[in-house]
Amino acid sequence: MSESATMRTITQDRYGPPEVLVEAEAPRPEPLPGEVLVRVHAAGVNPVDAGSRAGSGMAAVMGGPPLTVGWDVAGTVEAVGFGVSLFREGDEVFGMPRFPHQAGAYAEYVTAPSRHFARTPAGLTHVRAAALPLAGLTAWQVLVDTAAVGPGQHVLVHAAAGGVGHLAVQIARARGARVTGTASAAKHDFLRRLGVEDPIDYHAVRFEDAARGVDVVVDLVGTPDNQRRSLRTLRPGGLLVAVPGGLDPAVGEEAAEQGLRATSFLVEPDHTGLAGLAALVDAGRLTAEVANVLPLAEAAEAHRLIESRRTSGKVVLEI
Ligand SMILES: NC(=O)c1ccc[n+]([C@@H]2O[C@H](COP(=O)([O-])OP(=O)(O)OC[C@H]3O[C@@H](n4cnc5c(N)ncnc54)[C@H](OP(=O)(O)O)[C@@H]3O)[C@@H](O)[C@H]2O)c1
Repeated sequence: MSESATMRTITQDRYGPPEVLVEAEAPRPEPLPGEVLVRVHAAGVNPVDAGSRAGSGMAAVMGGPPLTVGWDVAGTVEAVGFGVSLFREGDEVFGMPRFPHQAGAYAEYVTAPSRHFARTPAGLTHVRAAALPLAGLTAWQVLVDTAAVGPGQHVLVHAAAGGVGHLAVQIARARGARVTGTASAAKHDFLRRLGVEDPIDYHAVRFEDAARGVDVVVDLVGTPDNQRRSLRTLRPGGLLVAVPGGLDPAVGEEAAEQGLRATSFLVEPDHTGLAGLAALVDAGRLTAEVANVLPLAEAAEAHRLIESRRTSGKVVLEI
């Protein structure tokens, strides 16, 4: 195989701890009809990457090892397949291709349907663009498509300083909502800068004692206990969106009995949502906070960081 037909990638031949992630050479993919070949400059790291690496997360959908995790891509269109009219060679794009199927974003190249990408906002670095897709689309699809959050509404975001949370806060604010968020006290200045009026230190205060009459809870913690206690913060008819792990069935029944709404959620590839995120970036209303940038070869260390569940903003691999 000639050198130009191969690429560097991170692969694993078994499920396991971060150390199973190793660098390897792999065939460079070619775009099928309707697909683009993207040269990846940066790849965002998400908790689901780590879960899938270990055999949970989306592992069942992805097929067994050997596999390459990662869905957040920012890069340059290198070639287009037959029929692609949205992009051409040289365009800078970002996206969350193929989720929850394997996309292989921890690599020098990916191919995916063109509409799994959108144009990178002018002036945005690849690293910041790679921090946006999965976390940003989650926040967008929850707040805009699922909850239709609008002016004057009150939104409670759990884990508001994390990858999804810090973007959800900004999107809710941009739509005119008042935002309450939970985080450790050390992160409250960060939350205030994002537009959270009244951060709640969930270590010191029971959040259901501090937040009342909430229209929408974005739960990014995911335990049945957190979901159940979140119901107590909602106004009649209010909505709980249970993002990690899905809605506990018993909590769903309690919500219905109490005249509340509650739903599970799984993010999907979404050209329109990406364009919505890009428009907010262009308008100066949305910035991805990047806490850590590591080289591709340090994917295992990136997974250790994300598995700590203590990071603020995003972890990104630069390729
Ligand atoms: N279903 C879907 O489609 C979907 C999509 C995206 C993400 N997710 C899931 O959603 C969750 C959040 O994702 P992420 O990328 O935002 O994670 P993340 O960036 O790893 O979240 C880290 C943040 O969580 C906070 N945190 C941890 N426990 C908390 C608690 N009990 N209360 C309040 N804050 C807490 C930490 O703040 P402190 O240090 O202050 O505790 C930290 O800032 C993950 O489980 C992820 O797998 C699901």
